Amino acid sequence: MKQKYILRGCVLMVLVLCTGRLFAADQCIACHAGVVGDKPSALFKHDIHFAKRISCADCHGGNPKAEEMEAAMNPKQGFKGVPKGDAISQVCARCHSDSTKMKTYGAALPTNQWGNLQTSAHGKLSTTGKEHIAQCITCHNAHGIVSVKNPASPVYPLNVVKTCSKCHANAAFMRTYNPSLPIDQAEKYRTSVHGALNAKGDPKPAVCSSCHGSHDIRTSKDAKSSVYPVNMPVTCSKCHSDAQYMAKYRIPTNQYDKFAKSVHGVALLRKHDVGAPSCNSCHGNHGATPPGVESVSKVCGTCHALNADLFSASPHKKAFDDRKLPECETCHSNHEIVTATDTLLGVAPEAVCSRCHQESQNPKGYAIAKTMRQLNDSLALSGSVATALVNEAEQKGMEVTEAKFKLRDARQAHLQMRTMVHAFNEDKFREVINKGMAAASFAKVEAKDAIDEYYFRRIGLGVSTLIITILSIALFLYIRRIEKKQV
Ligand code: HEC
Ligand code: HEC
Ligand code: HEC
Ligand code: HEC
Ligand code: HEC
Ligand code: HEC
Ligand code: HEC
Ligand code: HEC
Ligand code: HEC
Ligand code: HEC
Ligand code: HEC
Repeated sequence: MKQKYILRGCVLMVLVLCTGRLFAADQCIACHAGVVGDKPSALFKHDIHFAKRISCADCHGGNPKAEEMEAAMNPKQGFKGVPKGDAISQVCARCHSDSTKMKTYGAALPTNQWGNLQTSAHGKLSTTGKEHIAQCITCHNAHGIVSVKNPASPVYPLNVVKTCSKCHANAAFMRTYNPSLPIDQAEKYRTSVHGALNAKGDPKPAVCSSCHGSHDIRTSKDAKSSVYPVNMPVTCSKCHSDAQYMAKYRIPTNQYDKFAKSVHGVALLRKHDVGAPSCNSCHGNHGATPPGVESVSKVCGTCHALNADLFSASPHKKAFDDRKLPECETCHSNHEIVTATDTLLGVAPEAVCSRCHQESQNPKGYAIAKTMRQLNDSLALSGSVATALVNEAEQKGMEVTEAKFKLRDARQAHLQMRTMVHAFNEDKFREVINKGMAAASFAKVEAKDAIDEYYFRRIGLGVSTLIITILSIALFLYIRRIEKKQV
């Protein structure tokens, strides 16, 4: 008995589905589906809204119960016809911006799309001046809308590049808005690891919307943009710090953690210094590398130009190239770059040089590394001795302006020395050190002289005070004698 009912139920359901009469009461669909070549109704069969029993009339208005065309599509029945311009998004927003209404359909989607779109870069007025640049249907279609997770969606990762490029790779269109905006994003994107894997059908690597967002897309100059330098690391880390998401790729997932601790990360994330590199400064925005940089390992030179120039002319250039070692990364790492200190230099175990230079291995470099560290230490020592003397002289109230200038020169030489390390050349290094040593000893001499003079003046003062005292006593005695005589 039970089985019979179930069977009947199934047959009925199949019938209903096959004849498309699930909406028996919806005359809009019923009539339109019968019109040969009616695209909207054909597309609507696969629409997520159709599955939720939403009618043509929910977007176009009219009376879905009326069988007659005139009655159904009567403006007096609220029929709006085909929406144009912002009226399109307003149609969508009637539901998608109303969480109560969305809940009646059992939907728990965010309801911020229209709000966000209006304040985004795409919320600017189009060339007609009457509507926003992009409407909901620009990215989602009007009929045949599917879930964004459905591979048929225009915003599914494998399709979204094409969707954005409709406009962003269209020179004539983009010129009417902003002639200075590049139109090569998709082209460059294809040269990156992300783009190459995407072209092969992998939906996981970053696409336009992973970095820029979807409804709240803003120019990178806007501090609220997901690609603003300070926000970029978080945007990349959504995937790159997610071990589960990245599992199949077998690459580390610690870039963000390391970067945040680095000298660059602290400057960018804590001090908001946008001169410090963010992820995209080194890895490029769309391409595999930033513009004009042949490989990521050469990117440091775009900011640290002097270090890079010195390195290129150094003996390490060829030695590293031959061994396929990256230039700066070999000694400084890539993500966890810390403040460079003198301990990096020399042949002690904690010095970077000792990783490759031992008495038995690349010994010439070993000897030079050792000498460089010794020179560095003597400059540091001279500098601190000179500083102590100058401070002492100053505390004694002596004039030490000149000596302080020289101290500054010595400190300058120390900084220059830190950069000059990258020539990996003893003579050049010694030249800078000597300049610093000369300045430090000048300061030392000046300060010592000042201190000597202080003591000289003090002794002088003592002697003169003594003489004056003796003279005063003599004078006093003399006056007393005269007074006694008068009495
Ligand atoms: C009995 C058939 C029939 C019914 C019922 C019907 N339509 Fe139509 N509709 C048509 C035909 C035919 C056209 C094409 C007319 C034309 O090209 O002028 C059309 C055109 C339209 C258009 C395009 C109008 C334009 O200005 O280009 C929209 C939108 C539309 N229908 C929506 C609806 C909605 C919403 C309903 C239900 C409330 C509905 N229709 C009910 C037959 C019907
Ligand atoms: C989710 C909202 C929505 C629903 C539901 C919807 N439409 Fe539309 N329809 C639109 C929008 C928006 C446009 C304007 C498209 C454009 O400007 O390209 C449009 C355009 C049209 C047009 C004219 C242009 C064209 O594409 O041919 C017709 C006809 C039409 N719809 C009929 C229908 C019919 C019939 C149904 C039901 C089977 C339906 N629509 C369901 C939003 C909707
Ligand atoms: C510039 C293209 C673009 C425009 C315009 C756009 N969307 Fe989207 N939308 C997207 C992308 C991309 C996603 C997918 C985001 C993701 O993968 O998480 C999305 C996702 C969605 C989702 C799924 C839930 C969510 O918020 O992520 C809904 C619902 C949605 N859009 C509705 C709308 C509505 C309504 C409008 C108009 C007010 C609109 N969209 C305008 C690109 C766009
Ligand atoms: C009558 C209310 C209503 C209108 C009008 C409406 N939607 Fe929806 N929309 C919904 C509901 C309900 C869902 C399904 C949510 C679910 O499955 O959880 C949905 C789902 C979607 C999704 C899929 C989101 C996902 O899960 O990935 C997109 C995209 C979307 N709508 C875009 C639009 C666009 C574009 C328009 C205007 C052309 C529009 N909607 C108009 C109610 C509406
Ligand atoms: C309808 C065409 C169109 C589509 C589709 C489109 N855009 Fe745009 N986009 C524009 C226009 C026009 C501008 C504004 C240019 C201006 O005036 O500066 C813009 C601005 C932008 C900006 C800000 C550029 C800047 O720095 O000023 C970004 C980022 C952007 N779009 C990304 C996207 C992404 C990502 C997608 C796909 C999800 C997309 N766009 C889809 C037309 C479009
Ligand atoms: C891996 C992250 C990432 C991906 C993927 C990405 N972008 Fe970008 N995009 C950026 C960053 C970062 C900038 C900011 C550049 C800057 O510093 O000014 C940018 C800038 C832009 C701009 C402003 C103009 C320009 O070229 O500088 C547009 C437009 C744009 N992107 C569109 C797109 C489109 C379209 C796609 C997909 C083909 C895309 N982006 C993919 C990160 C990305
Ligand atoms: C949507 C997730 C996602 C986002 C967001 C994302 N990536 Fe990726 N990225 C991937 C995946 C997946 C791969 C492929 C891993 C592989 O096989 O190399 C990848 C690969 C890479 C690679 C190549 C790694 C290698 O050597 O194989 C680099 C570099 C990279 N991403 C940097 C970035 C940067 C920088 C950002 C932010 C501007 C970013 N990614 C944003 C998912 C993402
Ligand atoms: C100062 C420059 C710089 C910054 C900033 C930077 N990277 Fe890297 N990154 C590199 C270099 C150099 C490599 C090694 C690439 C090579 O040898 O081809 C690398 C490698 C990678 C790889 C490949 C896997 C690995 O760990 O070796 C990924 C993924 C990556 N970076 C993501 C990021 C992300 C995400 C950020 C921001 C949180 C970031 N990078 C910031 C320079 C940088
Ligand atoms: C976008 C520009 C930029 C790029 C690219 C860049 N840096 Fe830096 N770097 C900076 C800035 C700015 C600072 C100073 C941060 C601070 O305020 O402490 C810095 C600091 C440093 C320091 C610490 C300096 C010190 O005084 O101890 C080292 C070492 C360093 N960077 C190495 C590198 C290496 C290696 C690379 C390439 C993998 C690189 N940088 C890429 C801008 C950059
Ligand atoms: C063979 C190891 C080695 C290589 C390769 C190397 N460095 Fe250094 N770097 C050092 C040492 C050692 C110091 C610290 C000197 C000191 O403080 O005594 C240093 C200091 C620095 C500093 C801080 C001093 C300054 O100049 O402001 C920066 C920045 C820097 N390096 C950048 C780079 C860049 C960029 C490259 C690649 C072109 C690079 N380094 C390659 C060893 C190296
Ligand atoms: C990654 C390994 C590596 C590191 C780290 C390294 N070097 Fe070297 N260095 C080499 C190699 C390889 C050569 C070439 C050796 C050869 O041809 O005998 C070389 C050559 C040199 C030379 C030239 C010697 C000559 O033949 O004239 C000097 C000077 C030098 N290194 C100094 C240093 C100093 C100082 C440090 C630490 C700041 C350092 N190196 C760190 C690998 C390294």
